[in-house]
Amino acid sequence: MAHKITLIPGDGIGPEVADATVEVLGTLGVPIEWERVELSAAIIEKAGVSLPPHVLESVERTGVALKGPVTTPIAGGFKSVNVAIRKQLDLFANVRPVFTLPGLKTRFQDVNIDMVIFRENTEDLYSGLEHEVIKDVVESLKIITRYASMRIANYAFAYSKKNSRKKITAVHKANIMKLSDGLFIRCCREVAANYPEIAYNELIVDNASMQLVMRPETFDVLLLPNLYGDIVSDLAAGLVGGLGVVPGANMGEKCAVFEAVHGSAPDIAGQGVANPTALMSSSILMLRHLGEGVAADRLQQAIMAAFRQGDVLTRDLGGSATTRQFTDAVKRHIEA
Ligand code: NAI
Repeated sequence: MAHKITLIPGDGIGPEVADATVEVLGTLGVPIEWERVELSAAIIEKAGVSLPPHVLESVERTGVALKGPVTTPIAGGFKSVNVAIRKQLDLFANVRPVFTLPGLKTRFQDVNIDMVIFRENTEDLYSGLEHEVIKDVVESLKIITRYASMRIANYAFAYSKKNSRKKITAVHKANIMKLSDGLFIRCCREVAANYPEIAYNELIVDNASMQLVMRPETFDVLLLPNLYGDIVSDLAAGLVGGLGVVPGANMGEKCAVFEAVHGSAPDIAGQGVANPTALMSSSILMLRHLGEGVAADRLQQAIMAAFRQGDVLTRDLGGSATTRQFTDAVKRHIEA
């Protein structure tokens, strides 16, 4: 029976990378029935809500979505649709594997980077609770709960055990935010105590950022509250080739939404030069979630082969290939 999956191409480069991904999944022959749902800054502005109900209904019905980026206005305008999706579907765990790609020239090409980032996805400074106390004084509330912290810590440790990961590093700023980050870190310690086979340590977020740049190969699994997770994921993406290559998954108990780390890249949208690797790799996480492990491995190997081939890399990776040329190369490697 075909998997029913919601496809949200998004806007900016979203439709370009989404079409490329749907095409390679088609070459794999996995039976998928797509339910395509349009969502863009323009549609949201017209609807007057961050998350129009037809999008939510579709993902609730299928339980799985593959999503491209959606533009969010900066300093004003509607609230982030991405935050709304994560909150309304209770997608509490953001999972981002970051690893070295074969043959790709980066500043860190000589070290083997292989880490998985677990970012709490529902609270912290993303609670959207901001107000102006008096003129020119604003307040944003950072919400940390035991419930959400335990849930992400349990998820990260269970995943690490299942996938034979050896060490989890919790990242915080509890020396300053003693109450909020203090609670997060206490929850991480409590869960760590149940997993004696997994090494556990903690780093303050500023030090963690420096260590990630100086010794990225020493990190295995990172466990972070929402804001640090957001920032550190982009930093980690920069170690392995940038936003064009890093996949992501937003996992909940009932639904899962797979999307790249990158945004809608308005600077290159519509030019046919976007790198589809990140969304294709996100679809690999989706295939594993659907129990399609063999197809996931085949797509992974085909992407790796395209990177090894070297002459089909997109502009963001120092190449000159178009989205089309990279996609065709991945399809050829699948068929081979
Ligand atoms: P961005 O990720 O869109 O772009 C940052 C830089 O990376 C740009 O130079 C862009 O050209 C490049 N880049 C990103 N993805 C690429 C790809 N696949 N191939 C080649 N180059 C790529 O970040 P930015 O500019 O901060 O955000 C643009 C918009 O996207 C904003 O409205 C933001 O709110 C939204 N956004 C949406 C996300 C989502 O829907 N999940 C996530 C992050 C940002």
